[in-house]
Amino acid sequence: MVGFTGSCFVCFKMKVSRIAWLLCKRTEVRRHTVCRTFTSGSTTRQQQLSSARGRICRLESMELPSVGAKSVLVKLLAAPINPSDINMIQGSYAILPDLPAVGGNEGVGQILEVGSQVKALRPGDWVIPRDAGLGTWRTAVVLAENDVISLPNDIPLLSAATLGVNPCTAFRMLSDFEELKPGDTVIQNAANSGVGQAVIQIAAARGIQTINVVRDRPDLTQLIDRLKAMGASHVIKEETLRRHEMKELFKTCPRPKLALNGVGGKSATELLRHLQVGGSMVTYGGMAKQPVTVPVSALIFKNVKVKGFWVTQWKRTHSQDEGALRGMLDELCSLIRQGKLTAPACSEVGLQDFRKALDTAMQPFTSAKQVLVL
Ligand SMILES: NC(=O)c1ccc[n+]([C@@H]2O[C@H](COP(=O)([O-])OP(=O)(O)OC[C@H]3O[C@@H](n4cnc5c(N)ncnc54)[C@H](OP(=O)(O)O)[C@@H]3O)[C@@H](O)[C@H]2O)c1
Repeated sequence: MVGFTGSCFVCFKMKVSRIAWLLCKRTEVRRHTVCRTFTSGSTTRQQQLSSARGRICRLESMELPSVGAKSVLVKLLAAPINPSDINMIQGSYAILPDLPAVGGNEGVGQILEVGSQVKALRPGDWVIPRDAGLGTWRTAVVLAENDVISLPNDIPLLSAATLGVNPCTAFRMLSDFEELKPGDTVIQNAANSGVGQAVIQIAAARGIQTINVVRDRPDLTQLIDRLKAMGASHVIKEETLRRHEMKELFKTCPRPKLALNGVGGKSATELLRHLQVGGSMVTYGGMAKQPVTVPVSALIFKNVKVKGFWVTQWKRTHSQDEGALRGMLDELCSLIRQGKLTAPACSEVGLQDFRKALDTAMQPFTSAKQVLVL
């Protein structure tokens, strides 16, 4: 391996000095980029996570294995930095790879070469991972054919790179928990997140109204304008959830049947207060890192349903049902082509600037998804 080494900026910033991630830079097609976690000789997960020091983050170049009969060589094109990627580096995610590991769970690549028994994919096809944990922060990789699913390459690159996680999550949450009809209302926090922007757009395409909660910030008016241009019906600050203004708002739209919670803590409790009787709150993220507290009255008098959703589990549950994932991706791509679903606001960052991108991705009020261009 060659490349450069140094302290892992993301781990250092987050006071997680235990884990080292390695980003590897590709120098030719047969070499590839990876983001890997190293330990100082520990072998078990527990040892890895409790080991005190010695983790580093660096770019490296590695040899690619040869392409087997049922494998494909993929040139990664672009891969976002999502909160789950950072949680994985922190060691706090539900899936933790054996270390060292390559970072990144999402992204789009192009098939360069296929093995002799590969039937469904051809050179030139765009592909995205079927599951989490693939390690997309690299420039090329040899994978089993079934590790990826093809995408049409007539959609924008950034849409393709960010399609497999957030829009799929938004799509499922709007489809699987409550029967929503045109005119119904959904309320969500973290409305400017990647998931939130997809919720706004998919809901708008279905005629569903959205109440979108965001944190206050200096450029709030700009953010409100941007979300409304995407189709948000209402955009309000967290503080407004506790104010009389909500009563006025519900004179113009029905109380929500569905609340989508990507934050937790007080924000989630406030969402629950506004649900209609028998409505559902689906928790999919915990950006505030605080537990969800459910008021007793919401359970007794409103009989609200409190549920969770994880798109990775959905994909695994439906892994034998090719049509389920394919059908959802087709619908999402159709919305993209119609201009009804755009990629979240993104900042494209060269791989060599991965430290800056990781740092930016962890700052509040960024309002732009960091996407590594590979
Ligand atoms: N369960 C699933 O299947 C699934 C799938 C996709 C994503 N997720 C989760 O969904 C969440 C959002 O992911 P994403 O990729 O959409 O995020 P993103 O685009 O990176 O945006 C992060 C969002 O979190 C907000 N935020 C950050 N810290 C916060 C805090 N302390 N309190 C309130 N809001 C805060 C940000 O608001 P500001 O602009 O105000 O900073 C922003 O809206 C993450 O927790 C992610 O892991 C879950």
